[in-house]
Amino acid sequence: MAILSLNVQTILAGLTIGLLVYKAIKRMRYRLPPGPWCIPLIGHYKVYGSVEIHKKIAELSKKYGPVVRISFGPQMWIVLNNIDVTLEAMVKKKADFAGRPKFNSGEVFTEGGKDIAFTSYSPTWKFHRKIAGKALRHYLQGDLLENMVQDNAEKFLNKMAKEKEPFFFKDYVDLMIFHQLYTLCFGEKRPVDDPEVKALLKLDNDLFDLFGTGLLEDIVPYLKDIYPTAKWKKFNKMMGEILHLLHTKFKQHVDTFSPDKNRDFIDSLLMARQEAENEGDEAALEKLEDTYLVQTIGDIFFAGVDTTRFAMDWFVYFMTRFPEIQTKCQEEIDRVVGSGHPSMKDRSNLDYTEACLFETLRLANVAGLGIPHKTICDTQVGGYDIPKGTTVVINFWALHQDPKHWKDPEQFDPSRYLDEEGKMKPIRPDSWLPFSAGRRVCLGETVAKPELLLLCANLLQRFDIRLPDGVKANPEHNMKGFGIELPSDYKIVVKERIEN
Ligand code: HEM
Repeated sequence: MAILSLNVQTILAGLTIGLLVYKAIKRMRYRLPPGPWCIPLIGHYKVYGSVEIHKKIAELSKKYGPVVRISFGPQMWIVLNNIDVTLEAMVKKKADFAGRPKFNSGEVFTEGGKDIAFTSYSPTWKFHRKIAGKALRHYLQGDLLENMVQDNAEKFLNKMAKEKEPFFFKDYVDLMIFHQLYTLCFGEKRPVDDPEVKALLKLDNDLFDLFGTGLLEDIVPYLKDIYPTAKWKKFNKMMGEILHLLHTKFKQHVDTFSPDKNRDFIDSLLMARQEAENEGDEAALEKLEDTYLVQTIGDIFFAGVDTTRFAMDWFVYFMTRFPEIQTKCQEEIDRVVGSGHPSMKDRSNLDYTEACLFETLRLANVAGLGIPHKTICDTQVGGYDIPKGTTVVINFWALHQDPKHWKDPEQFDPSRYLDEEGKMKPIRPDSWLPFSAGRRVCLGETVAKPELLLLCANLLQRFDIRLPDGVKANPEHNMKGFGIELPSDYKIVVKERIEN
């Protein structure tokens, strides 16, 4: 028996050593990017376990160069820290870096990889991205987007106008953006205090807190099958609630769908399915199966809601910090828009306000390290080899703080985007990339930019926004994990610019 167990142990040890040697030899074939030493399997815990992961990696890149290798538990990650290597990987190398790594939590919220944002590069992914892009473009036609923003914003601004004491802007903007996405995706206009929207916002915030420092099951994948953590169980329960809501909304739309009336984003997807049905396109119909469509809705809702509400929170934070900049925006809005509603046609003349928005998107790290990419073949970046299947992330914070591209990078300075006449420069600054680039560029960029600008214009047209008397801006940031930063909670007071 002892001999048998010794043999089993010897075989296991032999296999493990064999595997490690095989991996080491395989790695020797490659000229991998440099990175600090770490304990094998555990990796750089102090880096990936930190809420300031983006800053820690930027620090490492000062020593190791723009392409840094770190170990995320047992996995090798490559982080791109400047614009040259980012564009080389994402644009010049076409689809080489357009894959997405699989991870346990992703498999749960994408219902087995049926979404767009977390699914790897494939013909099915391309197909769904195209359908979703077309459905989003629908909102850029005529006055659809501006009316939607206007309607939603007005409800919340009317309520804000009644605030007599200092209040948290975040409480308003979070709900306002959730309502906005409710209208865009589900065609619903709900009352300001609607409990369903509030409950979804709470669920989303709780998920953020849970994800803040990551889930152990994403680093040690087999843990979920042998000894799942309490955090993992909680995550599954919360995801179950969100998916239930999305499936319910979708089913309600299927039951009431009419091909000649497009009520919202879900209807646009159902129209694409109807078209495939009319054309007898079986291959397309298979891809347009319910779960895929529900996942596309989830992508648009959640990719849109968090980035937009965080960006608005930052915009108002900067406006309170720099009242003179706020006044310049208001002068421009008054001149261009007058007393009417800000519209899409005003957009090209709201240069200063737009420059403030661009500067907000540079300084506010609302997408953190973005969504991890994966190489779909052996490739290179910055002169190093990147083996097929490697996880690659972009350190947007490092790009947006790079002193080679930004003078006084920590300063809020909208003039960076303007020419001598005060018009937006036709070419954006080199290292400005909040929406990423290449095959995986943000699908919502063309909607997000006008939507945010219209929101900012509506807000500043109506109110003077200030910090309460005697309160100074808090320079501390609230780190949400994976590089996402928010301003520390702050209260504001608002005063109607034209008394009703
Ligand atoms: C301030 C606003 C926003 C910012 C800064 C932002 C930024 C980003 C970034 C950095 C990515 C990852 C790109 C990559 O993997 O390299 C992304 C992906 C994505 N975004 Fe946005 N986003 C914003 C708003 C929106 C909105 C409003 C929508 C939808 C209406 C949206 C939909 C998506 C989708 C679907 C993806 C996944 C694309 C893919 O994997 O192919 N985003 N976004």
